[in-house]
Amino acid sequence: MTAVYASVDDLRRAARGYLPRMVFDFVDGGAEREITLRANLADFEPLRFSPRVLTDVSAVELGTTLLGEPIALPLAIAPMGLCGLVRPEGELALARAAKAAGIPMVLSTAASHALESVMDAAPGNLSFQLYIFRDREFAKSLVQRARAAGYRALVVTVDLTRGGKREKDIHNGFTVPPRFTRRTAMDLLRHPAWLARMAPHRKQTLGNLVDWGGRDKSVVALSTFMNTQIDPGISWADLEWLRGEWDLPLVVKGILHPDDARQALALGADAIIVSNHGGRQLDGAPSSISALPRIADAVGNATEIILDSGVRRGADMLKALALGARACMIGKAALYGLGADGEAGVARVLTILRQEFDVAMALSGNQRAAAVRPDTLLP
Ligand code: FNR
Repeated sequence: MTAVYASVDDLRRAARGYLPRMVFDFVDGGAEREITLRANLADFEPLRFSPRVLTDVSAVELGTTLLGEPIALPLAIAPMGLCGLVRPEGELALARAAKAAGIPMVLSTAASHALESVMDAAPGNLSFQLYIFRDREFAKSLVQRARAAGYRALVVTVDLTRGGKREKDIHNGFTVPPRFTRRTAMDLLRHPAWLARMAPHRKQTLGNLVDWGGRDKSVVALSTFMNTQIDPGISWADLEWLRGEWDLPLVVKGILHPDDARQALALGADAIIVSNHGGRQLDGAPSSISALPRIADAVGNATEIILDSGVRRGADMLKALALGARACMIGKAALYGLGADGEAGVARVLTILRQEFDVAMALSGNQRAAAVRPDTLLP
C-alpha cells in the first residue's frame, strides 16, 4: 500500500519511522530545551488572516523573482549538512527536486556531496552556503569553486560561532567523534531498510572538504577538523572581505536584529535571511516569524528578505510574505521528504507546499505572490 501524504507532518511521521533515531533526532532536534525550536512553529499560529472576497482569484500567480531570477514559488531549500545520512543521494536528490519544482536551493559547506557533483546533477538555480573558516585561504577556495561551477549567489552563515548544544545528539552519541554504544547499535538494527540502503555507502564524507585537512576523508575526520575551523572571531570586516571576493549576489544568513540587517546592507549584502538556524543554535533566540516585522520595517524597502525556521505550511509562507519576506526557505521539511521517500518525497513536500500556498493565496483574496496585500493579516 502506498502511503498517503496530505501534509508535511505526514512525511515527518514517515521519516521518523524510516530513520534510526540518531539520524531523525539530528534532523528534527534543536538546541538545549528546544524553546526556540518550538517557538518557530508556535509563533505562526496566533497570526490570523484578514481574508478579502470577490477578488477574482481564478489565476493566482505563485511565481515571483528572487535576486533577479524568476522562481516558480516563493520558496527555496535551505542549506543543510550531512544529508547523505538521511538517504545516500542526499543533496543530489534535494537539488533535483528543487529544480523540477522551479525553485532554488542553497548547498551547504558541510554537504555530503561536492558542490560540483550537485551542480552536475541538477544544473540550475543553486547557491552556495559558506562558513568562514579560520583558514581563510580554504574559505576563499570554496568561493572560487562555487563561482567556477556556476553557483548564482553566495550565502554566508553568521550564526555559528559555536556549535549549538543539541542534547538529543549527545544522548544518541551523535557527536564528533561519535559514541557507539549497545543502544546505538540496537537503534540501527531496528531500522533495517535504512541500514540496507546505507550499506553500500558506508564511506560517507563531506564532499566539499575532501581536499582539506589530513589524509583521512571520512565524515568523522572531516567533521572533527571542520569543528576546529569554526571561527568565533568572524566580524563585519569578514563580510567586507567576502564582498571583495564575490561579484555575484551575496546573502547573509542568520540575522535576527534590525541593526544587523542594516549593517549587512551597508557593507554590500544583496539580501538577508532572517533565521535562527531552525532552533539549532541559540536556545531562547526569537522565532524567525516574530523577528521579521521589525527587520522588515528597518530594511524591507531596501532589500529582499528571506525567512526560514519553522515553515511547514503554505499558510506559513503567506504569513511570512505578508510580514515583509520576499520568499521562505525550508530545512527540516525537505529532509522529512527525503527520509520518507527519497527524491519523490522531497517532490511531494514541494507539491504540498505549493498547493497549500495556492489555497491560502486564493482564500485570502491575493492574486500575486510578488505583491501580497500588506493587510493580509489582522493587525
Ligand atoms: C541545518 N542548517 C544549516 N544551516 C547552514 O547555514 N549550514 C548548514 O550546514 C546547516 N546544516 C543543517 C543541517 C540540518 C540537518 C538542519 C535541519 C538544518 C539550518 C538550515 O539552513 C535552516 O536555517 C533551518 O533548517 C530552517 O529551519 P527549519 O525549516 O528546519 O525549521
